[in-house]
Parts: sequence; structure tokens; C-alpha cells
Amino acid sequence: MTVHAVMPAVDLVPESAPFSTEQRAWLNGFLAAALGAIARTDAVDLPGVAAPALDAASGPVLATNDDAPWHDPSLAAEERMTLAKDRPLAPRLMAAMAQRDCGQCGYSCADYANRIFRKEEARLNLCAPGGKETFRLVKRLAEELDEAAAAVPADAAPAPAVAPSPGTCRESPLEVTFVSRRRLNAERSEKHTHHIEFDLADSGLDYAVGDSFGILPRNHLGHVDQIIAMLGVSHATEIRGRSLREVLTDEVSLGIAPDRLFELFSYLSGGATREKARALARGGDPDGDAANLDVLAVLQKFSGVRPHPEAFVDALEPLQPRLYSISSSPKAVPGRLSLTVDAVRYLIGKRYRLGVASTYLGERALPGERIKSYVQKAHGFALPPDPATPIIMIGPGTGVAPFRAFLQEREATSARGPNWLFFGHQRQATDFFYADELRAMQRSGLLTRLSLAWSRDGDRKYYVQDRMREVGAELWRWLDDGAHIYVCGDAKRMAKDVEAALVDTVATHGGRSSEDAVALVRGLKKAGRYQADVY
Ligand SMILES: Cc1cc2nc3c(=O)[nH]c(=O)nc-3n(C[C@H](O)[C@H](O)[C@H](O)COP(=O)(O)OP(=O)(O)OC[C@H]3O[C@@H](n4cnc5c(N)ncnc54)[C@H](O)[C@@H]3O)c2cc1C
Ligand SMILES: NC(=O)c1ccc[n+]([C@@H]2O[C@H](COP(=O)([O-])OP(=O)(O)OC[C@H]3O[C@@H](n4cnc5c(N)ncnc54)[C@H](OP(=O)(O)O)[C@@H]3O)[C@@H](O)[C@H]2O)c1
Repeated sequence: MTVHAVMPAVDLVPESAPFSTEQRAWLNGFLAAALGAIARTDAVDLPGVAAPALDAASGPVLATNDDAPWHDPSLAAEERMTLAKDRPLAPRLMAAMAQRDCGQCGYSCADYANRIFRKEEARLNLCAPGGKETFRLVKRLAEELDEAAAAVPADAAPAPAVAPSPGTCRESPLEVTFVSRRRLNAERSEKHTHHIEFDLADSGLDYAVGDSFGILPRNHLGHVDQIIAMLGVSHATEIRGRSLREVLTDEVSLGIAPDRLFELFSYLSGGATREKARALARGGDPDGDAANLDVLAVLQKFSGVRPHPEAFVDALEPLQPRLYSISSSPKAVPGRLSLTVDAVRYLIGKRYRLGVASTYLGERALPGERIKSYVQKAHGFALPPDPATPIIMIGPGTGVAPFRAFLQEREATSARGPNWLFFGHQRQATDFFYADELRAMQRSGLLTRLSLAWSRDGDRKYYVQDRMREVGAELWRWLDDGAHIYVCGDAKRMAKDVEAALVDTVATHGGRSSEDAVALVRGLKKAGRYQADVY
């Protein structure tokens, strides 16, 4: 890494600021340290030393995906923060994010960090996959940022907010009509994955293949009523001009309890209860159950304490939208949009916990129901511009969604390029999504190759990357012919394992050293020939 031998003074505090020369010098030093600012002069290479935070010519260093070793969703938060510890604030803010670039917050990880750093985004709780851990880290870094900013008088007005176009982001949803759901697994499957259809007529929404669909979900009414019963008030109690029941249904998250809820319970209780609630609010785990405490579980744990419903609602986080990869092409089914949604449902103690959006779509939404939603445009996940380019798609489980859309689009546009799909799931007999469609596409010649991997049909796990290794020679030929390669699905393990298999394929069949194979795959990413939609 590059550092600089000579450090001239850096003027971060304007001359016009009301400080003495000594004060300004001290503040410049303080800010330079806070922002990691070191001006560039004589560069020397030293391993493990922080990069400069401020380029005298170009301003504070912002977060980017380049030179960001923490940009790996399989790393734990602690590891990411350690990798970033000597970096300036914006990259450290980025390292606090979950590194999925999933777009749920409305940005990439780097963009979200930069917006917080530049004070263009005040909401610090938008990183859904990072959860409470990320929120705590971001809050702490934002306090550091405030301390640094407080030392300098503001000399620029914030840029005026631009109103977003309707239906294009989480802040401006439009209504679509829920049409139907159809289970994609056979009866005996362990999974409940549904094909969901929407009618876009009169919604004003349009989309392209590769885009994701944002849904503003509703909490389960039975769950809401259990919470109201624990509060011991009427469901009609007025909060924020609506009934408590309405507010709990569509305004606030009833998932994992936020620190503020524990704070509220610590204010309202005494003795051991207060100490426990206080410890939980600080990230402690006095009873070893912190990871399982959703909002209802907190009410049950501290059942002797009944918060006022208004204070209770104020202590909760807003209910966030959820994103789903679109599994249809508007060219094949104009005015329609479909999703492929796996229902999240798991048992903790005696109570089933339900994923809010996936069970809303998979179990509760009724045909004809209007649902607030938006289209999140894909950045760097699209079919190749040349319709003759071969494509290789790797999408186990719900990861098949955007590839169904790609295939529909290639058919609707009579694209000539060969198409190869790797699909995998637990069992062939119960979890082969869209089997009839895919077989028909094979027969018609649209789907050139279909490679399958069933993880629970044999006596050992067998995954898409195992299949990729088996057909490595042909995979390399396709790549050598200019194929674009895509991966969609689980970010934490699958995407990384698939990339490792790709590197092995390049090394084995492309005759490259390991380092050269890694560099080639990195080059494919840079050239937009290796694209991922992972969550
Ligand atoms: C760009 C993008 C595309 C996506 N595309 C799809 C798609 O095509 N299809 C699809 O199904 N999903 C997709 N997702 C995931 C989707 O957005 C939701 O995250 C998912 O449906 C869960 O949301 P939920 O509201 O149902 O669950 P939530 O209420 O958010 O609950 C999920 C949380 O429950 C916890 N949890 C889950 N399982 C367990 C368990 N076994 N034990 C303990 N805790 C657990 C975890 O903390 C998890 O984060 C996509 C995500 C992104 C970002
Ligand atoms: N929290 C978790 O632990 C967890 C785990 C998986 C998925 N998810 C999430 O669950 C949601 C829906 O998942 P889904 O229905 O699409 O299916 P999925 O649970 O991701 O499973 C699809 C297939 O991928 C296999 N798989 C598991 N680990 C893999 C790996 N490292 N590499 C390649 N394949 C692997 C699974 O096998 P086996 O299940 O037989 O191993 C299964 O055959 C997604 O949001 C995903 O991120 C969460």
C-alpha cells in the first residue's frame, strides 16, 4: 500500500473560519487524523499501512469497491472492520455494511457509506442483511463523523433533494395488483417456494430483465394481535392518527428487537429486569437468548412491564421493503411481472417465526389485493448487448428467477446466442422449479444446455459448482468463445464457492496458473462479463 514520506499541512479549515492560527492548525491536524488525511508527495510502498484519506486536489477519500479487501459478504463484521481499521471514515463506513451490494438500502454498499459520510443520507438503519450489528457500527462511525464536522463551520448548503420518479425506488412506491401464487415444490418438499404473478396494468410501472422488484409487505395479523394482547390495550388505540393495529401491520418491523426497545424496557423497570434490559440495549446477552428476541419475545420476556403503546411504537424500527429478482420478461408477458419466492419460516422454541414479505406473498396476499411496490433498476446485471453472445447462468434455488426472465427475453427477441443454465436444489422429485418450461425450452433449442445438481438426492452434498467442475472443459470453451457468465442466489456461501469453481475451471482447462486464473476472472468481472445478483 502506498504512503507518503513528507506530510505538508493540509487546509481543511477555511481561512475565513473564526479560529486563531494555532486553533486552525490544531483543527487541521485533528481533521486530517479523523479523515485519515495525508497529502500526496513522496510515495513509498509499505505493506499494511493506511491509504491517504484526502487527496489535496480531489477532496476526502470516499469508499469504492477497489482496494476494499473487506468487500466480501462471507466475512464477519469484526473481520471487515479489522481490515478497514486504518482507513478513512467513508471506507470504514462501507466496511460496516454487509457487502452484498444487494440494493435493499437503495444504494450499493460503497454508495450508502459515501452518502452517510457526505450527510446526504440521514437514515443509518437501512442495511437489512447487516441487521443490528451493522446499525450499531454505523451509528458509532456517524458519531465520529459528527465530532469531526462539529469542529468545522459548515460553509455549503446541502444539495437540494430531487424528487424520485414514481415507482423507481423505496421512497416512491406505486400500487400493483396481486394476481396469483403457485407452489413450485411438490407436496413432500422441505421448501415452500412460490411463483407469484402481478398485474401491472394502470400501475405506471415498467421493468427490464435483470431488475428487482421491491415490495412493501404487511405483518401477519395474528402476530400483530398477539402483540396488542401483550400490551393490554384495544387494537383501536389511536397512534399517529391511525389505529394501533394498522400501525403495527404496515409501519413498523416486528422482527428482531431494536436496541431502543430494550432501552424503553430498562427505563420502565427496576432491579434485575432493568439490568438485563440495559445489557441487551448495549449489545450484551445476559440470558444467552439475544439472537432470538423478536418484538413479541421481548414482551413475553419482560411480561411484568407494559409500555404505553405510543412509546412502544416509537421504539420500533420502520418496516423495510424487501427485494425480489424478477422472473419474467416484459417482452414475453407484457403488463405482467412474476417473482420466485421462498417462504422463510423457522421454529424457535415453540413458536414458528415467519419471514414478513415471503410469507405475505406466499401465504397471505389475496388475488386482487393492491400492493405498494417499485422497480429497482439493475446496475450491471443484464443480458449482453449482442444477442448472439453465449450466456452461462448459474442459479440454484430461487437464484433461477432472473434466468427464467433472461430465457423468456432471448426467446421473445429471437436472440441467436447459445444459453446454458446450471440449476440445483435439494431434490429432483420435489424441487425442480419450472421443470416443464425448461424441458420445453430444451426441446425448442432455446436452452442449449441444462446442467442439474441435487444436493440431497445422494449420500453426499452435490452442488452446482460440483457440476461446473465436471463439465469444466466445455465451460472453458464457452468462456473462450466470449460467453457472459451470471450467478444468482445465496451470497454468503454459494456465490463464493461458484467463483472458486470458475477460477479452478480457468486454471485447469484454460492452462493458467492459479494467480493468472484469479486475474482472468477478475478481468471478466471488470469487463462486465461476469455478473452477480446475490442476496
Ligand atoms: C436483490 C435481491 C434479490 C432477491 N431475490 C429473491 C428471490 O428471487 N427470491 C427469494 O425468495 N428471495 C429473494 N431475496 C431475499 C428477499 O429479499 C428476502 O430477504 C427474503 O424473502 C426474506 O424476507 P422476509 O421478509 O420473508 O423475511 P424476514 O422477516 O426479513 O426474516 C428473514 C430473517 O430471518 C432470519 N432467519 C431466516 N431463517 C432463519 C433460520 N432458519 N434460523 C434463524 N433465523 C433465520 C434471518 O435473520 C433473516 O435475515 C432477494 C434479496 C435481494 C436483496
Ligand atoms: N440463513 C441461511 O443459513 C441460509 C441458507 C441458504 C439460503 N438462505 C437464503 O434463503 C433464501 C432462499 O434460498 P433458496 O430457496 O433460493 O434456496 P437455498 O436454500 O439457497 O438452496 C438452494 C440449493 O443450494 C444448495 N446450497 C447450499 N449451500 C450451497 C453452496 N455453498 N453452494 C452451492 N449450493 C449450495 C442447497 O443445498 P442444501 O440446502 O442441501 O445444502 C440447495 O440445493 C435466500 O435468501 C438464501 O440466501 C439462507
